[in-house]
Amino acid sequence: MTLMRLDKYLSDATAFSRRELKSLIRSGQVHVGGKVIKSPEYQVESDSQVTLKGEAVCYRKFVYLMMNKPAGFISATEDGNAPVVTELLPEEYRHFGVFPAGRLDKDTEGLLILTNDGQFAHQITSPRKQVWKRYFARLDASASAGDAEIFTHGMDLGDFIAAPGHLIVTGIPEEVFVEITEGKFHQVKRMCAKVGKNVIYLKRCAIGGLTLDGKLQPGQCRELTADELEMLKDAPLPPLEETALR
Ligand code: URA
Repeated sequence: MTLMRLDKYLSDATAFSRRELKSLIRSGQVHVGGKVIKSPEYQVESDSQVTLKGEAVCYRKFVYLMMNKPAGFISATEDGNAPVVTELLPEEYRHFGVFPAGRLDKDTEGLLILTNDGQFAHQITSPRKQVWKRYFARLDASASAGDAEIFTHGMDLGDFIAAPGHLIVTGIPEEVFVEITEGKFHQVKRMCAKVGKNVIYLKRCAIGGLTLDGKLQPGQCRELTADELEMLKDAPLPPLEETALR
C-alpha cells in the first residue's frame, strides 16, 4: 500500500486536473472513509475509500490495454502530421498517460499493447527478454521451404544481425506467419525482402502467449486481465490455429 496526497490520488484515478481537484476538495466534495476532507495535502492510502461528488473513486496507477491497431495510425502519443494510436483511446483511459509498448509501422495492423507502466513495457519489448511476436504477412510472391530455412539461421540486415526466427508458409504460398523475438525498425519487412519478397499486408497476431482478441474491431481496445498480463511476459506463442484466421 502506498501513502500519498489526496489530490495526487485523485489525479491518478480521475480525468480532473490537479487544479480542478484542489478546488473540488476545498469545496467539500471529497470524502475519505465517510468523512469530508478539505485539504489537498491530506494523506491517503491507495486502498482508502474515497468518494468524489458522492461517487466512489477506484484508484489505480497503472493501466494495460490491448488494441487492434488499424492501418493509418502512428504508434506514438503525438506526431506533427499523422494521426496517432492514442487518439483512438476511449475517454476513460485518456488521463492515464499510456504509450505504446513497442511499435507497429503506420501501415501495420493488429495487436498493440498500451500502458503507462514503463517497467512492464520494457519487459515485453526488450530483445533480451526474448518475448516472441507473431505476424501474419501477405507477400507479393510465394514463399518457399528454402526461405523458411533461411529464417531459422537469422540474417544480416546490414545495421544488425536478426536473431533466428520462423517463417511458416500457410496453405496459400503468398501468406505466411513470421515469428521473431526482436522488434527493430521494419524488421519483418526487411527479413522478407532479404529472401526476395515484399510484404504487402502485415498484422501482428500474438505477443508471448497473448493472442489479439478477435472481437476487437480495428481501432478498439480493452483492458488486459491479470492472466493475460502474465501470458505476455513469459508464455510461448499460442498454437497457430488460434491466430490463423485473424
Ligand atoms: N516488422 C515490420 O516490418 N513492421 C512492423 O510494423 C512490425 C514488425
